[in-house]
Amino acid sequence: MKIFKLSKKATLLAAAITALYSSYVAAATELKVAFNQSDKHPQYQALKEFGEQLSKATDGRYKVSVFPNELLGDQRASLELVQNGAIQMAVVANPLVENYDKTFAVLGIPYVYANTAHQEKVFTSDILDNLFASTKKFGFEVLTAYTAGARSLYTKGAPIKTIADLKGKKIRVLQSDTMIKMLSCMGGTGVPMNQGEVYTAIQQGVLDGAENNEITYADLKQYEVAPYFSRTGHLRVADLLVVSESFLSSMTPEDQATLKKLAKESTKKEFELWNAQIKTAEAFAKEKGATFVEVDTKPFQESCKPLQEELIRTPEQKALYEKIIALK
Ligand code: GCU
Repeated sequence: MKIFKLSKKATLLAAAITALYSSYVAAATELKVAFNQSDKHPQYQALKEFGEQLSKATDGRYKVSVFPNELLGDQRASLELVQNGAIQMAVVANPLVENYDKTFAVLGIPYVYANTAHQEKVFTSDILDNLFASTKKFGFEVLTAYTAGARSLYTKGAPIKTIADLKGKKIRVLQSDTMIKMLSCMGGTGVPMNQGEVYTAIQQGVLDGAENNEITYADLKQYEVAPYFSRTGHLRVADLLVVSESFLSSMTPEDQATLKKLAKESTKKEFELWNAQIKTAEAFAKEKGATFVEVDTKPFQESCKPLQEELIRTPEQKALYEKIIALK
């Protein structure tokens, strides 16, 4: 009968553990994060690690679920979902936030960063903190900025080496005025479009090409439709991790501080992952038939100077620009 007693105890213990476990699971608040690229991407991996750390630091009260491949909508739609609190977080490219506040345009000025290390210094410093908190009034806050490398042009048919080569070419750009102007100053025509539509648009001839970094080029298999990658490196557009203001204010001040601290720290990790993947992405695209072409970027830089000046006009833009340059 001892055996019977023991097994009864064990059953009770198991039931208690199960109850405890399910209350732990039920208590975890889910943070849904919209992401528009694959689960191989450095930002996805940095976000996964951020989620694990958040869960640990809050004793499992918060759990982060990252939805890749535009499963929660494209960047523009997902930013709106964050604003109205339908989802908690998203990664969106800087030009989408720039549509709310032009000061953000400074973060994406053509040729503003000397290199990835300079950009990392800017993103891990505190010079962006006030700007990032200022979007509260739009229903979201920016938690941190991630690198997305340098963007270059890629096309079907032939590479782009000069401003003249871009004449009459329709190139997909991110959805903002600055991106459209950027393409015009480089000599072509910018067509704003969601990332998810780019591959088919090039394939069907609606576009002659697009512009992006090597990782996205390889990750989204765009080398299949635009095999000439011309290293113009014209922009280093930040990606921003945004959080819903209504969600943030539902957290205790301590939890908010933990979330903000860990999000900011994830930037360092993202840069590390980025630097580790960039060469592999290029090698992969080459293996699949892509041709990488070196370009003299000076004429492009010269021709985009008026655009640079246009983006450093307000006192806020000027102040931020100077702080970025000072970290070179
Ligand atoms: C980069 C960037 C993305 C962005 C994409 C695009 O890959 O990391 O945030 O969506 O470019 O051009 O759409």
